This record gives sequence, structure tokens and C-alpha cells, in this order.
Amino acid sequence: MSFLNGGADRTGQAEVVRLTPERGAEIIELDQIVWAASPTAERARLSIEALDMSRTIGVEEPGGRLAAIASAWAFDTPVPGGRVDAGGLTWVGVRPECRRRGYLRALVERHWADCRERGEAVSMLFSSQLPIYGRFGYGTASSGVGLTLPKGASLRPLPESAKAGPAVDLRFETVSFEAHGALVDAIEQQAGYGPARRPGWTACTTSAAWRLMLEDEKPAGPRLEAGRIAISERAGLPTGYALVRRDGNWESGNPAGTLTIRAFQALDPASGYALWDLLVNMDLNTKVITPLLTLDDPLFGWLEDWRSQSVTLRDGLHVRLVDLPAALTARRYALPIDLRLAVTDRLVSENAGVWVLQAGPDAATCRRVADLDESETDVSLDIRQLGAIYLGGIGALGLMDAGLIHERTPGAVEFLSRAFRGARDPAVWPVF
Ligand SMILES: CC(C)(COP(=O)(O)OP(=O)(O)OC[C@H]1O[C@@H](n2cnc3c(N)ncnc32)[C@H](O)[C@@H]1OP(=O)(O)O)[C@@H](O)C(=O)NCCC(=O)NCCS
Repeated sequence: MSFLNGGADRTGQAEVVRLTPERGAEIIELDQIVWAASPTAERARLSIEALDMSRTIGVEEPGGRLAAIASAWAFDTPVPGGRVDAGGLTWVGVRPECRRRGYLRALVERHWADCRERGEAVSMLFSSQLPIYGRFGYGTASSGVGLTLPKGASLRPLPESAKAGPAVDLRFETVSFEAHGALVDAIEQQAGYGPARRPGWTACTTSAAWRLMLEDEKPAGPRLEAGRIAISERAGLPTGYALVRRDGNWESGNPAGTLTIRAFQALDPASGYALWDLLVNMDLNTKVITPLLTLDDPLFGWLEDWRSQSVTLRDGLHVRLVDLPAALTARRYALPIDLRLAVTDRLVSENAGVWVLQAGPDAATCRRVADLDESETDVSLDIRQLGAIYLGGIGALGLMDAGLIHERTPGAVEFLSRAFRGARDPAVWPVF
């Protein structure tokens, strides 16, 4: 397929092509060049196995050289009040000497076409750099904070009522896919589809992806240990896990280790508390680095003092509505609304226009109205802003304060804001 839209002038004769496993060596070489990585042959093989080859695409230049790549995973993702089929864009990379020729844009447009063919109403991603995807209509739909805690950070006692039920047992082991893959997957599935599910939650979809995640390559550092896993169980059933690694550092003969938590999940308060208690009090460490946390993470309810600690704010999920009516009707809304929305979308013309969203806690309909013009609508916004508010974590009013959403009907954006808000903050970091 030749490039469409504005890419053609810069991309010349290059073409978007589907990639097959036979091109594994080229794919790995390109990936290593883009990401400055040198994985072992076994990890390289696994990363190809983890890809969904049916939706792995590349840009091929005349002569056949692979200049860019992108892939996607199919996710069945919680959204407020429901679930949506989403394409998780991943593995995006362009050879350094081929940047700014429109290859990313061409790959993104093909990815959206794939999403539409598969009935995926939204595309989601985690971005290596914040400024890349906004121009493609991806809105930042969640943000989170990472904490650096001192060893022994004080946790408030857990109320007795939260401890009801079987006692929590803890294990601390060397992590392996064989020993822990099924257990971690089972915990994640319960977290993702159970009552405490977060909009935007995702997990690995293949064994190879789980293996790569659990047995991540040991980063450089003379004393870094193998990956470990802390597991909580109640009555013999797994209820939580944390993937960690310690650097075993010493300073002037004293322990000065850092424990980094790569992933954390717990299915009930007693299990989550027991895991954090174990991790923040483990001997020989002076620092504990948390994964990215939502602001409604239980840890903020337990820590006596997180203000004095180092706090890093980061963007989480970026969401793009590929099929606007399908996306908006896949979720439910906190209160009844009946709004006429004028939506701009520079890149997906099917989304642009005036839409009537009639929705509430139990149902949602969304239909295009051809005979209305923008002056007859309640709210106007770009598809990027709809992506930002879609998972319910970002308020539309704040975007209006920033001049990014406009209302013609006074009070309409406040309604929109309250209706779109979810009960839980959206996920901030993937488990894939
Ligand atoms: C980021 C990357 C994918 C961009 O690819 P590219 O082929 O150069 O992008 P394109 O030429 O299609 O550019 C599309 C638009 O995005 C803009 N853009 C691209 N990279 C950008 C960046 N890092 N920051 C801000 N804008 C960027 C371009 O300026 C262009 O804007 P325009 O349409 O207004 O001219 C590429 O530089 C890369 O592979 N970087 C390293 C790996 C990486 O970060 N991948 C993303 C993983 S989430």
C-alpha cells in the first residue's frame, strides 16, 4: 500500500507492508538499532514470539530495506461501566537516519485501519516521549506518580475490619515463568475483570510476553540480583504479587541497597498491606522505589507521610478514539446526559462532525447528525480531548479551563465532565 494523506510527499516510494516471522532477523536488528539494545539471542527470539505477527507492519524502502516497524496487541479493556476492544500500539520504531519522512504517521494510519477492521473502537499506547502522539489525536488519559520511600516508611495500622478472613501468608522467591507465570496471570485477570478493575487495565496476552515480563533482562550493574517475586496467599490462594529487584549496594561498610518494584498487584487490602509491609521493611535496603501509582492507589491511604519523599509525576495511557460512536457506546456514564458534540478530527474523517450522545449509567447511544452545524451544538472539542476524558480519569472542565474544549450551552461541559468521570482512576502502567 502506498502512503495516503500528507505522508506521500516525504515518503517517496516507500511502502507499508505486513511483516512475517521469516523477517525476524531484520525486525530484531531494526529494534536494536532504534532502542540501543542488545538482548540475548533467546530474548530476541522470545520478543518475536510475543508479537502478534498478524498485525505487525513495517515501512519498506525501495530495495527492500526495513526502515520502520509497529505492532499491536488486542486487548479487551475495562472502561467505566463496561469493556472495549482496543488495539494496543507497540514496538513503534523508525531507523534513526529515516526519521521525519512520515513513516510513523503511515504506520499509525495503517494501525487504525487494522483496528477498525477488527472492531477495535480505540487505540491505546504508552509513549516513550510525551510529545509524539498528541498530533495523531491521542489524549493523555491517565497520569501517575512514582515514589522513592525510605526503608521502614511508616504505614498506618490496617483496621481490624480489613483483616477479616484467612491470614495472609507471604513468599519471597526467585521469579521464573515456569513457577509464577500462571499465578501472576491469574491475579492480573482477577484484578482486571473483578470488582476493583481499573479502566485501561491490560495484561500480557501470550506466554512469550509473560516470560519476557517476568524474567526481564537484568539491567547493567555489578551487584544487581536476579528478579524476585513476593507473593501473598490467603487459604492457599494467591492474592497478590510484586516483582522486585535489589541492587545489594553497600556504602562505607553499611547496607545501602535500593529495592525497585517493577510491578505490583493485590486483590484485597490485607494482602496489599502485607506485601508493602514486607517490601518497605526488608533489611539491607535504604530506599524502595515504587512502580507508577494512581493517586487512588491504596498505598496513599496507608503511608503516614509520602509528601517528604521523592515524587515523580508521569503520563500513563494515551488513548485515541478510532471509531467514535462505538467507543462512546462501549462505556457508561455517571449521570444522564443528552449533548450535541461538535468533534474535529484531522486524521479520521469518519469521526469528525456533530454527534448526539444520549447516555447514562445503564445505556448509551451516539448518532451523527448531518443537518446540524457547529453553532447549534452544546460542546466542541477535538478527538484528542475525547481520548483524554474517555477512561474517566481526566476532567473535561480542566480542559475547558485550558481553552481546549468550548461550550455554547452554559454548563454543558460541567455535565460532560461529571458524566465521563469514572469511579476509579485509570491504569497508569501496563503489565505487558
Ligand atoms: C518517534 C519516532 C517513532 C518518530 O518517527 P518519524 O517517522 O520520524 O515520525 P514522522 O516523520 O511520521 O513524524 C510525524 C509527525 O510527528 C512529529 N514527531 C515525530 N517524532 C517526534 C518527537 N519525538 N517529538 C515531537 N514530535 C515528533 C514529526 O515532527 C511529524 O510532525 P508533522 O506531521 O507536523 O511534520 C522515531 O523518531 C523513533 O523511532 N524514535 C525512537 C523510538 C521511539 O521513541 N518510538 C516511539 C515509541 S512509543
